[in-house]
Amino acid sequence: MSSQPFTEVRFLAGQVGETVRLRGWVRNARTSKTRFIDLRDGSGFVQCVVGAAEADPASYELAGKLTQESAITVTGVVQLHPKTGQPELLVKSLELIGGSQDYPITPKEHGTEFLMENRHLWLRSKRQWAILRIRHTLVKGIRDFFDGDGFTLLDAPILTPSACEGTSTLFGTEYFHEGMAFLSQSGQLYQEPGIAAFGKVYCFGPTFRAEKSKTRRHLTEFWMVEPEVAFAHLDDVMALGERMTKFLLQRVLESRQEELKILERDTAPLETALNTTFDRMTYTEAVEKLKTLGSDINWGEDFGNDDETMLMNATDRPLWVHRFPKAFKAFYMEPDPQDPRLALGADLLAPEGYGEVIGGGERASSLQYLLDQIDHEGLSRADYEWYLDVRKYGNVPHAGFGMGLERAVAWICKLPHVRETIPYPRMMGTLRP
Ligand code: 4AD
Ligand code: MG
Repeated sequence: MSSQPFTEVRFLAGQVGETVRLRGWVRNARTSKTRFIDLRDGSGFVQCVVGAAEADPASYELAGKLTQESAITVTGVVQLHPKTGQPELLVKSLELIGGSQDYPITPKEHGTEFLMENRHLWLRSKRQWAILRIRHTLVKGIRDFFDGDGFTLLDAPILTPSACEGTSTLFGTEYFHEGMAFLSQSGQLYQEPGIAAFGKVYCFGPTFRAEKSKTRRHLTEFWMVEPEVAFAHLDDVMALGERMTKFLLQRVLESRQEELKILERDTAPLETALNTTFDRMTYTEAVEKLKTLGSDINWGEDFGNDDETMLMNATDRPLWVHRFPKAFKAFYMEPDPQDPRLALGADLLAPEGYGEVIGGGERASSLQYLLDQIDHEGLSRADYEWYLDVRKYGNVPHAGFGMGLERAVAWICKLPHVRETIPYPRMMGTLRP
């Protein structure tokens, strides 16, 4: 057995001509006179060429018997594929570490239901690898953006006593002698007190909505980043959300070309979004536009998924829709001083039919208004006393937003459904694995 240290596939381009050792899993093995192994080690993919002349006899024989997803170590010389120019390995020897029999996900097409049941294995596929690496890059990019912009991370609790985004999508659980606790729908109410301590704060964690609808945009458990900024108004959060989105697009375009290629993602629309000023439109203007596009929406109604898709199929850049009727928006939004029927909220809709990825706005500043809103929504004042303290002690204008990570991944990777954007999706009807 060789004592040579292992390298990783991602380093091979810099090791051409060297003898290296790799370890990983067999994606596919083809046997003819020369044997070809598609190997992946988590850091990348490489073709290993096993010829009778170069490999030792036992290794050559083993290469002819390898099954899909067997784990192996392999030693060989790095060379460049004559046609593709990609590094490949000319194998001298290989060893089996862990065998694999009847791996359920074969190279043939499988239905989504089957793949979802085997999500823990599906993660190994090239496409899922590419998507989840982009997700990883977005998570890191989000943290880098806010950390670099003077924000302080203020983690919000997951077990909470009260609703933030309406009572119809709460998951509840018994909480000792306190009664019911609810899985957090949003960390926002906990970020607002934070601005008076840190000025600019964000939280980034899992949030939960008991969404009883099956759509391509809804998970019951999703990750949301939520910045909140003291002394900020509606325009400031739209500017912040636009800056963050562009930072993330740039990060992915710079560092995830290989993954975007695997996904066959046309990057031109992402570059357009990166290099243009996002459009802005009031809700009222958006309703007019939707009517000309054939929607039957009436003023005062919330957009359906179809409305967002319709709006965003008609443009090549992200769009801020702002000033919604407050009747269907959350209780905490600041009313528009120009028109009290409206709330100073804004949603960022992504192009290519994707729709809402960010929701946010300016927070109501009047204590009395908030008390009335809480009563109006049938919420219990006692649960919100602490939240209302922000308005009592040094109240300042403030605003923030939430971006759903999975919605962003779906758009950037151009996926038909959010279920592939998170390692283990939770949706109505999906709890395993
Ligand atoms: O628009 P939402 O409900 O806004 C809030 O929760 C605010 N409290 C955020 C804030 O101002 N701090 O949700 C924000 C974003 C949406 O734009 C969407 O991207 C995502 O969270 N989101 C979901 N993603 C996947 N599945 C769901 N069921 C989602 N619900 C919201
Ligand atoms: Mg929203």
